Amino acid sequence: MDLVLATKNLDKIKEIKDALRELKLRILTLKDFPDFPCVEEDADSLYGNALKKARAIAKFSGKLSLADDSGLEVEALGGAPGVLSARFAGQEASYEDNNLKLLSLLQGVSLDKRKATIRCAIAISEGNKERVVEGACKGTILPEMVGSNGFGYDSLFEPEGSGRSSAQMSLKEKGKISHRGRALRKAKEILKDWESRLVLGLTGSIGSGKSTVARMFQELGAEIIDADKVGHSVLEKKEVRESIVKNFGSSILDKEGKIERRKLGKIVFRDKKRLEELNSIIHPLIFSEIKRKITFSEARIIIIDAAILLEAGGDSLVDKVLVVNASYETRRKRIRESSLLSSKEVEGIIKAQFSQDEKIQRADFLIENEKSIKESKRQVERIWSKFVAGC
Ligand code: IMP
Repeated sequence: MDLVLATKNLDKIKEIKDALRELKLRILTLKDFPDFPCVEEDADSLYGNALKKARAIAKFSGKLSLADDSGLEVEALGGAPGVLSARFAGQEASYEDNNLKLLSLLQGVSLDKRKATIRCAIAISEGNKERVVEGACKGTILPEMVGSNGFGYDSLFEPEGSGRSSAQMSLKEKGKISHRGRALRKAKEILKDWESRLVLGLTGSIGSGKSTVARMFQELGAEIIDADKVGHSVLEKKEVRESIVKNFGSSILDKEGKIERRKLGKIVFRDKKRLEELNSIIHPLIFSEIKRKITFSEARIIIIDAAILLEAGGDSLVDKVLVVNASYETRRKRIRESSLLSSKEVEGIIKAQFSQDEKIQRADFLIENEKSIKESKRQVERIWSKFVAGC
């Protein structure tokens, strides 16, 4: 998984990389996105600025992103410079300018009255899913700059109980007690959770029994997102209904003004062009709703149950593809027994889908669902324990 850091600050990059080194992340920075426009840090809180930056780069890059914002609050200055710490001595102020201004404002103030807190807000954003965590470090503003490591206010800031300025500490020493180190440890736990998530796409031709298999995974602890159900909810949306009526005529509506799905199916499953027309209306919305469900889910293992996962390009949403297979005869028999569809309708649906062979070729896992339920369950449990649960 890639993680984009919303910064070009090499000191911050070093600290963040060090704190997250155990995670299996490829860390990118703003240097990898030279066209990314500068984000104005105009929020009135560290929280707001961090979130603004993380959201902007996540949107721009389409990747998981992390942004931080820090601020120094000096008690003798009524909490200043706070959110304005970077621009304390002016818009283009250097670290030294800021430190000199701080020293001059605190001139003559005794050590016991130079208490300060440095805070950090870290936002992580991945599309709709986002979290903000905070970390703080209490300390004292020294009467002169000491040490040459670190950056920013490090040479003036002595963390409580350390007896040294942050600029006299190694990266690791500073990370253990610093505002950013504390926030990063919280962020790391969240990222660990997100990183160990596995999204499986479950597919198979009509009658293959994929919904039965989905239920088996659900019993083992997976969360199921049923693409059919998502599709039905999308059809209920006013703008979708209007667009479908515009393309297929008002006879597509039932007495209550809802889309008659079977009628729509009869049209599109005998005419490829019309099917494409319908797909172009509903697929983008189904995709974004599934994406939303994935990002808001708390589950570690999510299964997207979708008959046309591969045909619709839905494999871009999943980590692995699981195909449920059954012979043509078995599938036809199951459909005859369990569905109201006519043979002609079933033929139309089968024709619109990839062949089972094509699906199998793209499978990471295959479940042969030809024999007993017990036999299929055995295969599901094997995949679960060997490849899914402990991954
Ligand atoms: P920003 O998070 O880069 O906007 O930083 C705000 C201000 O806090 C800048 O003046 C930074 O130099 C300073 N700052 C940020 N992180 C640290 C740190 O780890 N130690 C000391 N100063 C910092």
